[in-house]
Amino acid sequence: MKTLNIVGAGRLGKVIARLARNSGRYRVAGICNRSPESAAAAVAFVGEGRACASLSALPAADMWLLAVPDAAIGRVAAELAMQARVAPGALAFHASGACEAALLGPLARRGLRCASLHPAFSFADAERAVATFAGTRCALEGEADACVELESLARDIGGLPFRLAPGGKPAYHAALCVASNYLLALTALAQELACAGGVEQALPLIGALMRQTLENALEIGPQAALTGPIARGDVQTVARHLAVMPSPMARATYLALGRATLEMAAPGLAPDDLERLAAELAPGADA
Ligand SMILES: NC(=O)c1ccc[n+]([C@@H]2O[C@H](COP(=O)([O-])OP(=O)(O)OC[C@H]3O[C@@H](n4cnc5c(N)ncnc54)[C@H](OP(=O)(O)O)[C@@H]3O)[C@@H](O)[C@H]2O)c1
Repeated sequence: MKTLNIVGAGRLGKVIARLARNSGRYRVAGICNRSPESAAAAVAFVGEGRACASLSALPAADMWLLAVPDAAIGRVAAELAMQARVAPGALAFHASGACEAALLGPLARRGLRCASLHPAFSFADAERAVATFAGTRCALEGEADACVELESLARDIGGLPFRLAPGGKPAYHAALCVASNYLLALTALAQELACAGGVEQALPLIGALMRQTLENALEIGPQAALTGPIARGDVQTVARHLAVMPSPMARATYLALGRATLEMAAPGLAPDDLERLAAELAPGADA
């Protein structure tokens, strides 16, 4: 059984620790947070381990998870590399989606094998996260041998591991941000427009269409799922939409996404329609 230390058992760290413990393949040895009270609460949640007031109080371990906020990973890695119980050959990993394993440089120089494991999952509520984590895709990147070991950890906690190409992390994380955060911005814009049109139950109206569209896109691909005025080359309807945009931000977003939609629709459009739509949706039109 492998021993696992957690530095930063917050939203993500304590859930990964409990899932690892539940798998029966890992023993959580030590947990260190900024405050001893928070570390003690994490130990209680995990059901195993020792709350440590400082990095120097952590016991030796086979695996070290640095689940502190992204901005603190480099600093904590440097501090940890100075601790006597951190042994060469052990595995160190962080869980950032945007940053690479290179952030753990001080630990790599100390002889640890370093990688990152990013679950594409929101750890908003700890109990719920434990109950629903199974099937989560986990992106791995870093030293080859460390990735093999993290592949096992990911599977042991119910995840579906996959490898990211070197240098791919910023674009990978941008994809998740667009898919999740920007979807919410899009939902808010559609809601605002429906309300501007006098619709009282805006969310059920746009929600049903959004679900159907997403299902189509996932099933047959975004390009084949595209319908609507741009796909039909209907420039008058686009002009009517632009005339009722409730704010400069709504107009700018409509134009930018309209151009992206036009690029998808272009192969199926007549050259004249394509030209007229491109002019209607041109960046200068959002002034
Ligand atoms: N949350 C998510 O949904 C999610 C999803 C995927 C990936 N991630 C990644 O997971 C990592 C952690 O994010 P999180 O949301 O779990 O953060 P979080 O809830 O803010 O937890 C961070 C933890 O780090 C501890 N900490 C901060 N600085 C420390 C230091 N110098 N020494 C020891 N402990 C320290 C904090 O201690 P205190 O409790 O004492 O303040 C806290 O327990 C990040 O890399 C993030 O990108 C998060």
